[in-house]
Amino acid sequence: MNPKRVGVLVSGRGSNLQALLDACVGEFPARVVRVISNIPGVYALERAAAAGVPTTVISHRGKERAAYDAELRAVLEADGVDIVCLAGFMRVVGAGFLGGWPVLNVHPALLPAFPGMHGVRQAIEYGVVQAGATVHLVDAGVDTGPILAQGSVAVKADDTEESLAARILPLEHKLLVQALRQVAEGRVVVRGGRAVVELGVGERRWWG
Ligand code: GRF
Repeated sequence: MNPKRVGVLVSGRGSNLQALLDACVGEFPARVVRVISNIPGVYALERAAAAGVPTTVISHRGKERAAYDAELRAVLEADGVDIVCLAGFMRVVGAGFLGGWPVLNVHPALLPAFPGMHGVRQAIEYGVVQAGATVHLVDAGVDTGPILAQGSVAVKADDTEESLAARILPLEHKLLVQALRQVAEGRVVVRGGRAVVELGVGERRWWG
């Protein structure tokens, strides 16, 4: 079977994008065919270029949500994209973007706790002893939608937002690649608002 065509949306350094680029080779059932950033000049764009993946900058500034969604969609549709990954994309996509393809998002918290921009900071402020990362299918909400994969890390007494985020990040990379594989293989179904992954032999849904 041909690998699924993946569009990745980014806003910054692009370490999650890099994990996808590194994974999407050989027998992996997906390839990154387009990277879109809403911010010009970010490092993620260099990573894509280094991997030979075409990039587009589409600024969100001064645009209505619906018009922006349509612009993103047009580029990805022209590339024949099957699956979209939001990998550190700091914008909410609207209803006009959803539908017709699975959209995955990676978030540095154990959703539904601590959605939004400051998940790691809020986890520390709250005093949780386990933090983590979540990959989920995007719906119309902010960091909501059926969960595909989660993993946790222990919070240390002296953790700062930076130190905890740095321990969560490798988990994000692993979970995003795992979830993309499962979606690309067509093994994810949504039943009653929940994502059900049909696991292969020796696979586990949860990482920890
Ligand atoms: C990640 O922690 C992601 O979960 C969050 O922003 C960060 C982006 O990192 N939304 P990178 O650009 O993938 O390195």
